[in-house]
Amino acid sequence: MLDHLVSVDDLDEEIIEDICNRASEFHDLRLNGGLRRHPESYETLRGRVMIADFFEPSTRTRFSFEAAMSYLGGKVIGTENAAEFSSFKKGESLADNFRVISGYGDIVVGRFQNEGDARIAADACLIPLINGGDGTGEHPTQALIDYYTIVNHFGEEMPDIITFLGDNKRSRTVRSLAKLLASFSSPFTVQFVNPKGLEPPQDLLDELEANEVDTIICNDIRDPDILTFTDVLYVTRAQNERSDEQYNGHAYSLDQSLVDELPDDSIIMHPLPRNSEIPAYLDQDHRAKYFEQAHNGLYVRMGLLELMLET
Ligand code: NCD
Repeated sequence: MLDHLVSVDDLDEEIIEDICNRASEFHDLRLNGGLRRHPESYETLRGRVMIADFFEPSTRTRFSFEAAMSYLGGKVIGTENAAEFSSFKKGESLADNFRVISGYGDIVVGRFQNEGDARIAADACLIPLINGGDGTGEHPTQALIDYYTIVNHFGEEMPDIITFLGDNKRSRTVRSLAKLLASFSSPFTVQFVNPKGLEPPQDLLDELEANEVDTIICNDIRDPDILTFTDVLYVTRAQNERSDEQYNGHAYSLDQSLVDELPDDSIIMHPLPRNSEIPAYLDQDHRAKYFEQAHNGLYVRMGLLELMLET
């Protein structure tokens, strides 16, 4: 039972497996045209309403949630700019905002400017809330998509080494995915590669240590030991809008010679949007999985919505 999804801490192995199984069915259905042909078999949320209340810009999260709800036969209401277009602009508190809107639908997806806001909103909500990202805090649905993408590629043999390259300090996707993987019992190593100043936050390092995950921190992507042993290279942009410290993705951007160091069976992931850290010509590389990863968002969010709204 999943009342709210604020953090990956709200998930367990059983729930994750359930969501991934459902996602995989929707994925197969769509690939063979069945999402168009047999609506009666998957429109399980007809008559239900999803409210999207977004306080930060979003492309993948909002569009894929809206598409997911639409495919499932439900309806969507909301705003993509709640900071401007809702009564938040008139000084209404976040708690009041979510308390009120939760009277108008069956589930809320929120995106928030500050870490901790999703918890405040969930506590005020009378219906289930899904955190679509809260400041530098968490992004649990992205972690589910990332996990699904990894399992789709590696199957039962989970990767041994995952390398997070980029803004390991301010990326909520890094925290959520690292925590989610650490909650599984299979041992793995995390390599954090980032410019000086963008090291992962201490609370994340503590949590990885508590779960007996080996952790390496490195400031140089050209370090010869890093890419050669990487199974999953997870790249993030510099989240410069989140603090005054400004970093340039050029400082750690990939190129063909770096990618050539990766094992043939590894994958390159990125939650997107990207800036200069992955040049577009690398999209042709067979290891580049970030667009597939973004598209998996539809299936995983269909699975999640269905699970949370099942009565
Ligand atoms: C990410 C986010 O919002 O945290 N985007 C996404 O949802 N896929 C990554 C980012 O903004 O850099």
